[in-house]
Amino acid sequence: MINYKELSPCLNFRVEALSRLDKKMNDKTYDQTQSDPDFLNEQEPFDLFQKWLKRAEETEPNDPNAMSLATVDEDGLPNVRMVLLKGFDAQGFVFYTNLESAKGQELLANPKAALCFHWKSLRRQIRVRGPLTQVSAAEADEYYHSRPRGSQIGAWASKQSRPLKGRFALEASVAKLGVKYGVGTIPRPEHWSGFRLAPLEIEFWHDRPFRLHDRLQFKRDQLDLPFERAQLYP
Ligand SMILES: Cc1cc2nc3c(=O)[nH]c(=O)nc-3n(C[C@H](O)[C@H](O)[C@H](O)COP(=O)(O)O)c2cc1C
Repeated sequence: MINYKELSPCLNFRVEALSRLDKKMNDKTYDQTQSDPDFLNEQEPFDLFQKWLKRAEETEPNDPNAMSLATVDEDGLPNVRMVLLKGFDAQGFVFYTNLESAKGQELLANPKAALCFHWKSLRRQIRVRGPLTQVSAAEADEYYHSRPRGSQIGAWASKQSRPLKGRFALEASVAKLGVKYGVGTIPRPEHWSGFRLAPLEIEFWHDRPFRLHDRLQFKRDQLDLPFERAQLYP
């Protein structure tokens, strides 16, 4: 703890002002009710992930399952965008997309990625890294057919990540496909499927006062090994 009284009077004034500001901001932004003081005692990551996601489902106004997905392109240049988590268990984290999109192409060429969840009102972050595999055709079919009909048609209509002349071209395509698939089961497009990221690393971050945050990392070198657990400096 800095003893502000021992500092020179001029510096003392400025440091005290900054200290008051820091305290004010910290009191305002740090909400004790959102804390999970016991999470550092957790011995395995999947239950903790489940617990934090459930909490986010109770508190976040929109898309608690939204996560950023980082990939790299063929030049090694990183790329990042949001996707929705659609399944999760000890085998990995599942999301769905267009395989011909930028991310689809990047993942097919280099099936490794990182995910990041940030629940702002909970002041929590979870990071995940690891290799990916495509989900089975049966798994993709099941999820595709659980979606609203409009979304199923949208998956056919969108040439995701490629240039679009204008909104009209997209809407015309949706209308045409709406007629084509007016009745009956809509087949899943072959270019639309899911990926499962199998975690080599999962890190839980929790906001704490004065930026002295808590971090708990679970890491393994291979998927068939148990996780090693470590607390990290903020
Ligand atoms: C909250 C949110 C959730 C999204 N979920 C998905 C998703 O699950 N799958 C998907 O392909 N795109 C999703 N998107 C759109 C992507 O962020 C992105 O714009 C799109 O997939 C094209 O990315 P790409 O050009 O890097 O392939 C989502 C966007 C937001 C903001």
